[in-house]
Amino acid sequence: MSSRLPGFYTLSLEERLWRIAEQAKLSDEARQALNPQGGLSTSQADHMIENVIGIYGMPLGVATNFMINGFELVIPMAVEEPSVVAGASFMAKLVRQGGGFHAESDEPHMIAQIQLLDVPDMQAASHALIRRKPEILALAHKVDAVIAELGGGARDMEVFNFEKTAVGPMLVVHLIYDTRDAMGANALNTAAESIAPLLEEISGGRAHLKILSNLADRRLARANCRVPCEALAFDDFEGARVRDGIIEAWALAEADPYRAATHNKGIMNGIDAVLIATGNDWRAVEAGAHAYAARSGRYASLSRWWADEDGDLRGELEMPMAVGIVGGATQVHPTAKACLAVLGVKSARELAEIVVSVGLAQNLAALRSLATEGIQRGHMSLHARQVAIAAGAKGDQVTRLAKQMASEGNVRLDRAKQLLQQDRGKVD
Ligand code: MEV
Repeated sequence: MSSRLPGFYTLSLEERLWRIAEQAKLSDEARQALNPQGGLSTSQADHMIENVIGIYGMPLGVATNFMINGFELVIPMAVEEPSVVAGASFMAKLVRQGGGFHAESDEPHMIAQIQLLDVPDMQAASHALIRRKPEILALAHKVDAVIAELGGGARDMEVFNFEKTAVGPMLVVHLIYDTRDAMGANALNTAAESIAPLLEEISGGRAHLKILSNLADRRLARANCRVPCEALAFDDFEGARVRDGIIEAWALAEADPYRAATHNKGIMNGIDAVLIATGNDWRAVEAGAHAYAARSGRYASLSRWWADEDGDLRGELEMPMAVGIVGGATQVHPTAKACLAVLGVKSARELAEIVVSVGLAQNLAALRSLATEGIQRGHMSLHARQVAIAAGAKGDQVTRLAKQMASEGNVRLDRAKQLLQQDRGKVD
């Protein structure tokens, strides 16, 4: 299978769906779940959350051209923002010229926190907790027989002493738990709750919060890529100028939190889109990403860009990636299941490696635009399509109106309505 799908965007929506379904050898059920008329049913939705009144639709596209660790991948992305899918696909094409993305990930070790208050002797309690670690871990391990059977479960425990907080001293126990192919929130929270009474008994304190940490810094995923300098050249922009412009843009994100927030948002454009498509908890990954970006005490860029000794552009991205391919919406939501089938991933780690690669591609897309022609040019033509649709344009009209507004540099709803009126006048 190849993720190079030249002219894919020129096909009709139905043709694209058939092409992907055929290529990924999807079952009829999975293909149906990707069909705009299929997907999540109201009765399924009604079981997922409370007070359901409907289903919220979202465009689902596929990013093409990706090669990650030598594998060709077509990547489902659910996102409402124009340019994201096109940007990722285009950058994946450039990165292919440098051998594709290389990605790796840590073991799926998550952290659950148990807060201990009113501890009579903090030092003695810390020592006692550490001494009885095997017993505590054994208890936590028993909580999820399925995860334990699959080789996961409790791995380690740490104790932190917060001498001064707004409510006085407290101990915080970190339970390190291997969640295997699950994101693991349920297993972690249950494990934290189940060991809390024992921690109280050992410490003499009162267990208050028992909850996972979204700063999943033991479950990092990292991707890197190389883009040959000459592959970066386009129009009047020489490759070296584009490369240096990208590095200069990254340097600002590294130095300044105001820029870092936007820079990292661009990374999350790609990451969230894959997480949503695959039914993962994107708020959890968002929270972890930003906390990790601030780990030095100053919020900074999650990625790094530099020139190597051959003058080629190099990039890398490392961040927490708490994702799953079992449990939660990944298995309840039919479209999420179908998207996982399109990816063909066999483990949560494989998914994490794909997601972080897409984040790096998305970052490159934004920096390349910003460092050269500016973000608006590419954005405008797609934005113009949305404005044309909002004004009521249908079929061919959408492209015609969008083109005209973009060429006038006047992409506004009132202008779209005016053009539509003129159009209607011609037809009548
Ligand atoms: C827009 O959704 C994302 C960008 O602002 C990211 C960036 O500035 O790097 C283009």
